[in-house]
Amino acid sequence: MTDNIDQLRGELLAAVSAAQDAAAIEDVRVGALGKKGQITGLMATLGKMAPDERKAFGQRLNVLKDEIAAALDGRKREFESAALNARLASEHMDVTLPIRPEAKGTLHPITQTMDEVAAIFGQMGFEVADGPDIEDDFHNFTALNFPPGHPAREMHDTFFLPPGEDGNRYLLRTHTSPVQIRTMMTQKPPIRVIIPGRTYRCDYDMTHTPMFHQVELLVIDTETNMSHLRGCLQEFVRTYFGVDDLTTRFRPSFFPFTEPSAEMDIGCSRKGGELKIGNHGDWLEILGCGMVHPNVLRACGLDPDVYQGFAAGMGIERIAMLKYGIPDLRTFFESDLRWLRHYGFAALDIPSITGGLTR
Ligand code: DAH
Repeated sequence: MTDNIDQLRGELLAAVSAAQDAAAIEDVRVGALGKKGQITGLMATLGKMAPDERKAFGQRLNVLKDEIAAALDGRKREFESAALNARLASEHMDVTLPIRPEAKGTLHPITQTMDEVAAIFGQMGFEVADGPDIEDDFHNFTALNFPPGHPAREMHDTFFLPPGEDGNRYLLRTHTSPVQIRTMMTQKPPIRVIIPGRTYRCDYDMTHTPMFHQVELLVIDTETNMSHLRGCLQEFVRTYFGVDDLTTRFRPSFFPFTEPSAEMDIGCSRKGGELKIGNHGDWLEILGCGMVHPNVLRACGLDPDVYQGFAAGMGIERIAMLKYGIPDLRTFFESDLRWLRHYGFAALDIPSITGGLTR
């Protein structure tokens, strides 16, 4: 019997190492451990043995069975890893190769517009900051000088999240302004940042989508005043729209987080129902802005007797629609390939002041 087991072990192990693919391994397994396999056959003889003999032989058979099962497993894994390595080699991609000329992908006009805005303000010395899409009441409202129960909170048509365990009321940020707070609480002035990002409001029609994009501007130091704000924004719209002498005007307005507050208009014409940007006598509202409210500075731990500065906010979709003649806001997010091909931008067409902002 001993010889029998040792001989069988030798034969089976040899068969395992001789197997050249997963199918051959399966054949060996069935031949040894399957219903009619050799080891299974020997197991069946145990019943006819005397108790002592059965115990000794049974133990040795179990050892053999485990040994063969492990050998089969090991060999199978060798095949699997060889197959994986072959696949990795065949699917290897050289990312240093030049782009294929037939590639059809384009940049979304939102991405393009945000890149253009960043290129213009980057040239003026602004850095890009960001913050989370999910905000709390403090950053989105309270620290921005929206008193509790203030109607402006309701005007934002806020998406609230179910109350958190920490008792905070979380929401999808209704504007990029909360990142002003995050920036002032973590950076020391002088601060000069732009904050592009997604914003959310519960609204949907020709000119509103529940998700849209804004870019925020924030400058804090000890002397920046309203004329700097005006000059900076004027320079921006002239470069962005490519109209060198584009006129701007400030109208008084109200935002809880700025005092004084203003809305800026740019020159335009609406003759024949067609909107044209330029000095044609008519006006178009483009953004909101103002001097950062002392309460906002205080909420961020900055002394309003020392620090001052300006903030501004505008809609990315709005300025993209104006520049690229896109009539319906909702089409931005419909993922219609024909629209994307029509309004999209070549991926390597990176905007810069010196290289020209667009094609
Ligand atoms: N947060 C305002 C909004 O979403 C836009 C805005 C207006 C931002 C004036 C500003 C500002 O920083 O000064 O409607």
